[in-house]
Amino acid sequence: MIEEKMANEHLHHIYNTIVNEVDVGIHVINAKGETVIYNSKMMDIESLSKEDVLHKHFLDVFTFEEGETSTLLDVLREKRPRKNVKQTYFNHRGKEITTVNHTFPIFYEDQLIGAIEIAKDVTNLERLIRKNIKQKGNTTFTFDSIIGKSPSIREVIEHTKRATRTPSSVLIIGETGTGKELFAQSIHNGSERSSAPFISQNCAAIPDTLIESILFGTKKGAFTGALERPGLFEEASGGTLFLDEINSLSPMLQAKLLRAIQEKVIRRVGDTIDRKVDVRILSTINEDPIEAIANGRLRKDLYYRLSVVSIFIPPLRERKEDIPLLASHFIEKYNHLFQMNVDKLHPEVMQLFTEYDWPGNVRELEHVIEGAMNLVIDDTTINLAHLPVHFRNKSIPKEATSSVHSSIDVNEELTTRYQLKDYLHEAETYFIKKALARHKYHVTNTAKELGLSRQALQYRMKRLHIRAK
Ligand SMILES: Nc1ncnc2c1ncn2[C@@H]1O[C@H](COP(=O)(O)OP(=O)(O)OP(=O)(O)O)[C@@H](O)[C@H]1O
Ligand SMILES: [Mg+2]
Repeated sequence: MIEEKMANEHLHHIYNTIVNEVDVGIHVINAKGETVIYNSKMMDIESLSKEDVLHKHFLDVFTFEEGETSTLLDVLREKRPRKNVKQTYFNHRGKEITTVNHTFPIFYEDQLIGAIEIAKDVTNLERLIRKNIKQKGNTTFTFDSIIGKSPSIREVIEHTKRATRTPSSVLIIGETGTGKELFAQSIHNGSERSSAPFISQNCAAIPDTLIESILFGTKKGAFTGALERPGLFEEASGGTLFLDEINSLSPMLQAKLLRAIQEKVIRRVGDTIDRKVDVRILSTINEDPIEAIANGRLRKDLYYRLSVVSIFIPPLRERKEDIPLLASHFIEKYNHLFQMNVDKLHPEVMQLFTEYDWPGNVRELEHVIEGAMNLVIDDTTINLAHLPVHFRNKSIPKEATSSVHSSIDVNEELTTRYQLKDYLHEAETYFIKKALARHKYHVTNTAKELGLSRQALQYRMKRLHIRAK
């Protein structure tokens, strides 16, 4: 009897270990909707801790907007499985995570006792696929491809052009979509190395275990299946190695990279000999490097090596005079691609464009124009109706914004002029941004103050396009 109990306990422990070691997220709720299993990978994916979730009712932890439902609860209600549901989350560092979920009901002797969700993290896979597609359509940019006449962008271009004359490392700093890749390619193409290879690698796209062998190569037999293969450093020899999103490299790899740059030698994984390399390093970071150093995402010594020249590309909201030029450029691009004849933006659209603060920068502008041109039929002007709904909602005319900002009092005029939905949207954005700023963008603390779960706050930030900073 005791032996049987021990065996059961062992088995239980083994199941537990499996659940926590597997590389898929597992979330199980009982028939009442309370969480009974929430494994380590799921914590990772949803940026929640076990205590946040375990033994609580699902709806006390996760909030859903009208029209949205939870697959787990749906499955419990409908008693039918749901397969291959793709979902995107933002973790506590604001990083986007994409999963593919299978959810199914659990029966015990014909009784429904709960539901299980299994989530497979496909973020890296997705990025890899996206990157490969991008590489296929490999266009090479030069300084002439950089559109903009604002003094700030002209100054950056002039500054960058000077960096083409030397082989020094260049660190390109800028928010997402500001054109970092465009600048990197322009530097390479304007330099003496332009006829040598330009090898580009996104450091965030590949798991840590692979990136070392990708960068430095492998010696045959270094690990099971390893072939004798040069890494990107060797492939880029004589040319330029472009390391995108350098802050996502692990500290261990940052140290190895530092050695390679400092000593100009690399060692293939599993090898004992050093090989000399002559490579110019361009890298990018999409956050303030000083903050990345303070938060342990960037080694200080590596930063100094990478930023012999540093280039800061200003966000689009700080050079709004470039918007008309960029807009015409993208209209031309899509006229050509879609065989259309659009020639301008309606003044109202231009007005919205100048008021909006473009968190996704030039890329977001390009997407908005591409989206609008999909909706234009027999017209030569992009007008308000062609803009995506979320964009129109985001861009509320100035007076309304300032009224909301200055007080939460709803005055008579506002109630007649704006839909409640738009007003609430604006107020909510303002409220959350203020709270985040008070907590230095610490999501957990902000959520606490606002009386929301972290997941609920992250969900709102995503919906309202508030960046995690
Ligand atoms: N000044 C510009 N002139 C013309 N096109 C631009 C300009 N800046 C950005 N773009 C276009 O916007 C898109 C985004 O640029 P890019 O990929 O270089 O941004 P990024 O800073 O590398 O973004 P991320 O950090 O997200 O990788 C590209 O299609 C690029 O061609
Ligand atoms: Mg980029």
